[in-house]
Amino acid sequence: AAALFQTRCLDGIKLTITAGPTREAIDPVRYISNHSSGKMGYALAEAAADAGAQVTLISGPCNLSAPERVNCVNVVSAEDMLTASLNHLGEIFIACAAVADYRPVAAADQKIKKSQASMSIELVRNPDIVSTVASHAQRPFTVGFAAETQDVLHYAKDKLQRKNLDMIIANDVSNSEIGFNADQNAVTAIWPKGETSLPQASKTQLARQLIALIAEQYINKGA
Ligand code: CTP
Ligand code: CA
Repeated sequence: AAALFQTRCLDGIKLTITAGPTREAIDPVRYISNHSSGKMGYALAEAAADAGAQVTLISGPCNLSAPERVNCVNVVSAEDMLTASLNHLGEIFIACAAVADYRPVAAADQKIKKSQASMSIELVRNPDIVSTVASHAQRPFTVGFAAETQDVLHYAKDKLQRKNLDMIIANDVSNSEIGFNADQNAVTAIWPKGETSLPQASKTQLARQLIALIAEQYINKGA
C-alpha cells in the first residue's frame, strides 16, 4: 500500500466521494437524519489526495473541516447530494455518505405547531445516488459502502450486484465501538472476483488501505 502512495498511483485521476449524513427537512426548524459523523469519508478524501487524485468531497452536514487539497461541496438533502454528484462525475466515485432513505413528502413552509396527542409524517423514498451514478452514461469506477447490523457479507454482496457496483465496503455496525460515528472501523472489501478483510484500525489507516485497494482494482479494472 505504501508504494502506491509513493508512486502517487492516482495522479491526476478525478475522484468524487460522498460523506456524512443527509438532512431531510420536516419544516424550517426540524429534520430527519442519522448519526453518521463523516469521518470515514473525510479520511478517504485525504488518503485519495495523498495518492495524487483530484478529489471532490460532497459532504452532508458534519462537524469536520475539509482536508487540504480537496474541493469540498457542502449539501444538505439527498436530492442536493445527487445533483452535486452528477455535476462532479470523474473516473472514480466512492459513496460513503449515509443517505436518508426517505424524506417528508413536502417540508412545511412554517414551523409545525403541536396539537393532537399523535401525528404522522408521510415519507417518500429518496433517489439512490450510487445506483444512479453506476447506471450513468459516464459511469465512473463505482464503490459503495454497506453498513449492516446482521448477515453483513450476505447483504453487502447483494448490494454489490443490485446497485451494479465495482466494489463494496462492508461494515458491521452492530458493535458501537467501531463503525458508525466511531474513530475505528473494521471492514471487508468485496468486488465481483474477490474480497479482502481489513482488521480493526483507525479510520485514517483504513482509508489509506482502502484507497490502495480501490486504485489497484481501478487500474486492473476488476481483475
Ligand atoms: N446510497 C446512496 N443513495 C441512497 C441510499 C444509499 O447512494 N439513497 C449508497 C450509500 O452511500 C452506500 C450504499 O448506497 O454506499 C449502501 O447504502 P445502504 O443504506 O446500506 O443501502 P440501501 O440500498 O439504502 O439499503 P438499506 O435498506 O439496507 O438501507
Ligand atoms: Ca439505506
